[in-house]
Amino acid sequence: MPLLPVASAQDVPDTEQEQLTLVVDDGGLSLQQLGPKAPGPVRCEFALGAARHRRLYGGGRGQDIAKATGLGRSGFCPKLLDLTAGLGRDGFILASLGAQVTMIERNPIIYALLADGLSRAADKAEEDPPLAEILRRINTVCQDSVDYLETLTDQQYPDVIYLDPMFAPREKSSKVKKEMQIFHQLVGLDDIGELMPAALGKARYRVVVKRPVHAPVLNGCEPGYSLKGKSTRFDIYPLQKLP
Ligand SMILES: C[S@@+](CC[C@H](N)C(=O)[O-])C[C@H]1O[C@@H](n2cnc3c(N)ncnc32)[C@H](O)[C@@H]1O
Repeated sequence: MPLLPVASAQDVPDTEQEQLTLVVDDGGLSLQQLGPKAPGPVRCEFALGAARHRRLYGGGRGQDIAKATGLGRSGFCPKLLDLTAGLGRDGFILASLGAQVTMIERNPIIYALLADGLSRAADKAEEDPPLAEILRRINTVCQDSVDYLETLTDQQYPDVIYLDPMFAPREKSSKVKKEMQIFHQLVGLDDIGELMPAALGKARYRVVVKRPVHAPVLNGCEPGYSLKGKSTRFDIYPLQKLP
């Protein structure tokens, strides 16, 4: 398949400014960095590999991401907005644990990868009823989340809002996971200045922010409490008691 040049990094300090290319092949749509030290292609994969393994053996509602979003409580299946969908990994995990998830992604290239991954998963779901059930709980929107939140009426407010903004890597780019390198190149760092207050104004029960474990809190906004893992921390901003 021919390569289609789609983007080159602009205004991104401290990263190599390599060209990025979208590739369509038998594995679906992927984003590939060009150049001699380029990492492998990035694509969304929900039906197989790591996503499947995590779905089946990842610890279910005992995982920190579940406890943080209220899914740790048996029977609570929140309506959840993922305002920084990216490649949809977290959103997919949350849907697999029972949440009704709307994933919002503003970058059209990342969104195309996400949509392609979900579409390929839907093909596989014909022989995998639990996967089909999860996919029925997922919606996607390609829009800026601040704008999206403004369209919601009171009745449409989500129970939980989830944020996973891009952070500055602590290590040199060659050591950072390939997705992170490409994300940094494509979208830079996320400016969540408007997103956090907008989220706090629209969630019914809580806002959850995923952060690297030692990172400062977002916008200087102290959470009610945090759940800390080895490399990741979930900061929880409770707004009212879960039902
Ligand atoms: C670190 S990634 C999220 C990764 C995701 N949690 C996952 O599991 O794949 C952050 C994503 O948020 C998106 N983003 C940042 N600000 C946004 C906004 N205001 N509206 C919509 N998407 C946004 C970026 O384009 C990027 O794709």
